[in-house]
Amino acid sequence: MKVYFDNAATTAIDVQVLDLQYELQRKYYGNASSIHQLGRETKVIIENARTTVARLLNVSPSEIFFTSGGTESINTLVAGVVNQLKPLSIITSKIEHPAMLQSLTTQAHQSGCVLQFLEINAKGIINLDHLESLLQSWNGAQVLISLMHVNNELGNLLPLKKVSELAQKYHALFMCDTVQSIGKYPLDLGAISVDFAVGSAHKFHGPKGIGLMYINRKNAIAPLLLGGTQERNMRAGTENFANIAALAKALELAYSDMENHLNHVQQLKKHLIDRITAELPNITFNGNTEGFPYILNLGIPKTEHNEMILMNLDIQGIYLSGGSACSSGTLKPSHVMEALGLAERCRPLRVSFSKYNTLEEVDYLVDVLKKY
Ligand SMILES: Cc1ncc(COP(=O)(O)O)c(C=O)c1O
Repeated sequence: MKVYFDNAATTAIDVQVLDLQYELQRKYYGNASSIHQLGRETKVIIENARTTVARLLNVSPSEIFFTSGGTESINTLVAGVVNQLKPLSIITSKIEHPAMLQSLTTQAHQSGCVLQFLEINAKGIINLDHLESLLQSWNGAQVLISLMHVNNELGNLLPLKKVSELAQKYHALFMCDTVQSIGKYPLDLGAISVDFAVGSAHKFHGPKGIGLMYINRKNAIAPLLLGGTQERNMRAGTENFANIAALAKALELAYSDMENHLNHVQQLKKHLIDRITAELPNITFNGNTEGFPYILNLGIPKTEHNEMILMNLDIQGIYLSGGSACSSGTLKPSHVMEALGLAERCRPLRVSFSKYNTLEEVDYLVDVLKKY
């Protein structure tokens, strides 16, 4: 049996998305910046995709910019916000994705703005009272809050509405790394006060190497990539029109059946928790299990026998990660596990589901885990 439980790292492309991508690549090749008909054809494909994405996220098409993925979106936004909007402080957490943490650290260091980390509890839940007291202490000066919607290792879900209300109350900018939630979890950017958000198609059954950034129209920032005037001067470089259309198609498919997929993975997660609680009581759950249904982080008690557990699971056809994607397949403790003080205590196993997983696969995982 082959079981793919590493969907937080990346997902399999949906065949409908792949078919569209292939068909578009076959039919069209014009450069969207060319003013002749072939260029205009690809330009229309891009703008239609932007309209679709904007409709699904409930924002204006002028607030959506296509990029090469989550990492580029985050780097662009952080550099733009720090350099143009000049916050005196950035409030974040130690369990953000490395793309965010490294961008924030580098930009804060270069600009001299203060980087402040919020208190988190043993489950990785952010202390919102601490957030409010830090916001208060800046007394109206420009502050940037950068917190992720779904933690990619733990599956913790940020109380997005509460954070956005605090941002509004203290006139702070709010950047949300929504890479894990866009396309999997309802996200109405028009209804909440978020200034910047990001998405990556390969997390929701789209192609790799294509993503988006949302920039609320109140904010104007400069691009990271310089050159042509593509993406209304926000991202130079010839657009990958087929990937852009594929991203929009993948998002459309995700939104058309989101509730069913959420219910399905919730059922898988509950079944895994129930079986582990009953049959493998030594295994703990890292993070807040009440969070995002697509991710469950298991803490395997350390023994000499299970040092190579990831590799052994791999041999038995079960593919998952120990920490985040970058540490996938290695035993190096992730910065998230270190921040929670869990690195020494257990071997983390992140099980991340998709719409394609089944209860039989969950049963197979539990049966194999019993050997360790
Ligand atoms: C929370 C989060 N942010 C950012 C990224 C980076 O996205 P990409 O792989 O599209 O560069 C990831 C990918 O693992 C992620 O999980």
